[in-house]
Amino acid sequence: MPLNLPDRERLVYQEGRAPAAHLDLLHAAGFRAAGAAQRLGVFDTLAEHGPQSAKGLAARLRCDQRALTILARVLVDFGYLTESVDDGTDAVWDNTPASAAFLSDGTPDTYALVFSFWQRVLFDHWDRLEETVRSGTPAADFYRWLEEHPDTLREFQTMLTRQSRMLAPELIDLVPVPAGPARLLDVGGGHAGYSVAFCRRHPQLRATVLDLAGALATGTQAIGEAGLVDRIVPYEWDILSPEPIPGPPADVVLLFNIVHGYRPEQNARLLRRVVAATAPGGTVALVEPVDDPAPAGSVSGDAFVKLFSLNLLHGQGGQAYPYGEIAGWLREVGLVDVRQAALTASPNDRLILATRPVAG
Ligand SMILES: C[S@@+](CC[C@H](N)C(=O)[O-])C[C@H]1O[C@@H](n2cnc3c(N)ncnc32)[C@H](O)[C@@H]1O
Repeated sequence: MPLNLPDRERLVYQEGRAPAAHLDLLHAAGFRAAGAAQRLGVFDTLAEHGPQSAKGLAARLRCDQRALTILARVLVDFGYLTESVDDGTDAVWDNTPASAAFLSDGTPDTYALVFSFWQRVLFDHWDRLEETVRSGTPAADFYRWLEEHPDTLREFQTMLTRQSRMLAPELIDLVPVPAGPARLLDVGGGHAGYSVAFCRRHPQLRATVLDLAGALATGTQAIGEAGLVDRIVPYEWDILSPEPIPGPPADVVLLFNIVHGYRPEQNARLLRRVVAATAPGGTVALVEPVDDPAPAGSVSGDAFVKLFSLNLLHGQGGQAYPYGEIAGWLREVGLVDVRQAALTASPNDRLILATRPVAG
């Protein structure tokens, strides 16, 4: 959390009388320290048991008291914990309101998952970032790295499922689906959250979810829990393989959060196969965090899209693309009526729709 600098100290950095990069160093260290606290269970334990003395918290977390005290004092400075004194002898720590609201697992809007996921990404996956930038090709393989880190893969899938719950109500209103029996293809739809939402809304719709085995494990479970095993089929298929998309043409093809993983020429190849898998008159629907300024003009939102782009480049060779570039690819593969809609639930994401012409 940002250090609360008094004006006179902030000015020293703003006016270039001290290296402002030092503040970045402090914040990176504070972020890393808070990640350790999260994994040790500091925020969850304080949320569950209330304020704790140094001795009590060390005992609950099975930590060395002196070491935990050194960590906690960093967390106090960075606004993660409050500290008071118990009978003048022992420190007593509690979550600050911000930690209580967002960093413990028990709260409904918890940010804990996102916080933990990005700790792993920045301090492990980004290890060879400069190699990626030097060569222009990804030095890491994001999905292989996820497979090697099952806890982080679970966090990633849970974040995507949560995002699907947030966006699906708006998307099922905006994506046209034929009224009668129809077929949906969910390309890279792993967790199956969107296929489940569309099939619930359209009782005559059947869906196929295409993805890699690891992601399909989450999807298969979600399909079972939704009671939709007779209407949604998980199918293992590699986007990068030269094979055509399996099965008969679909009336709706979802390509949600997929093209940002790939380079433009890979997307052109993928989109050609998507068109071949779309029935004449059918709809291709993309959801993407576009690299255009958000309509609401959020500085932190725009900064996040740029950081996200760097992660995509490093792990897959992709990036967040501007809407105009994606629309150009869609037209180039013969799709028409290309249009976009803002999503109120997520200002940096857009729904992009296109139609396969009836003839052609
Ligand atoms: C960013 S997630 C998007 C998931 C879902 N469509 C959504 O919007 O929530 C990208 C998905 O593509 C899948 N994926 C990555 N590489 C793939 C590949 N080579 N073949 C098939 N699926 C792949 C991932 O497993 C993951 O489920």
